Amino acid sequence: MQIVSENIDLTAALEPWRLAGQTVALVPTMGALHAGHMALIDAARSKADRVVATIFVNPRQFGDGEDLARYPRREREDAALLEAHCCDLLWRPTIEQIYPPGFATTVSVAGVSERWDGAARPGHFDGVATVVAKLFAAVRPDMALFGEKDFQQLAVIRRMEADLGLGIVIHGVETVRDGDGLALSSRNAYLSEDERRRAVALVKVLKQARASILEGAPVNGTLGEAKRQLRAEGFGRIDYLALVDAATLEPVDGPTAEMRLIAAATIGTTRLIDNIRVAEATV
Ligand code: PAF
Repeated sequence: MQIVSENIDLTAALEPWRLAGQTVALVPTMGALHAGHMALIDAARSKADRVVATIFVNPRQFGDGEDLARYPRREREDAALLEAHCCDLLWRPTIEQIYPPGFATTVSVAGVSERWDGAARPGHFDGVATVVAKLFAAVRPDMALFGEKDFQQLAVIRRMEADLGLGIVIHGVETVRDGDGLALSSRNAYLSEDERRRAVALVKVLKQARASILEGAPVNGTLGEAKRQLRAEGFGRIDYLALVDAATLEPVDGPTAEMRLIAAATIGTTRLIDNIRVAEATV
């Protein structure tokens, strides 16, 4: 696996693949890689001739008082994992490569960015869309892969790609979970043993709520009960717990073609997000 930092080295690494007509899949990450990221790399490997991963902890998607300073950084371990999963190229841009002096552009995706994490973390999706647009422009991949755990992020990126006509196929990859069901996340590293034990309540209450909704229970009452259960399990702030249309992320209170239950809640000082599909299939 080649590892590059400067844009000029990235271009030089990509050039022979382009000349040979090979397809390129991009997996953008912020590092602290885990099995969820490796599922993205493996899916990319199965779909494209070449796999490019990026690691860039993007300051523009963190709000004031969020965890930018303590976000886990494990460069050596990350590179070893990517190598073991046959990634071809790792691009670790410096801050200047992404945001050169005088950088003044923000990519802002209206509508789908606005509710949920968009409301709880003002500016977050502008930061995500802007950095992903930069990564897309530099790598010009045929496809890019993102985890379904960040379901709203995936919807924002799909919207941006379609609106800008970038010609990049966006693939969502199913959330990878620990044995007890907790969705893998780099932020799980912040959890104490006790918090980690309780954290699994997030997916459990989502599954219970799904079962109730599919049995015909009223949506509002079911969501209220799910929040009550989360609090009983030791969760503090619940930013949202909602039933939404999977495409628009608008709230729904009855059956639509494809629905998703989405939630963000804090345990201790760690904010966790998760979502599950509301259909016959189970997660
Ligand atoms: O999901 C992430 O890790 C980040 O939001 C992303 C897509 C790499 C942009 O910084």
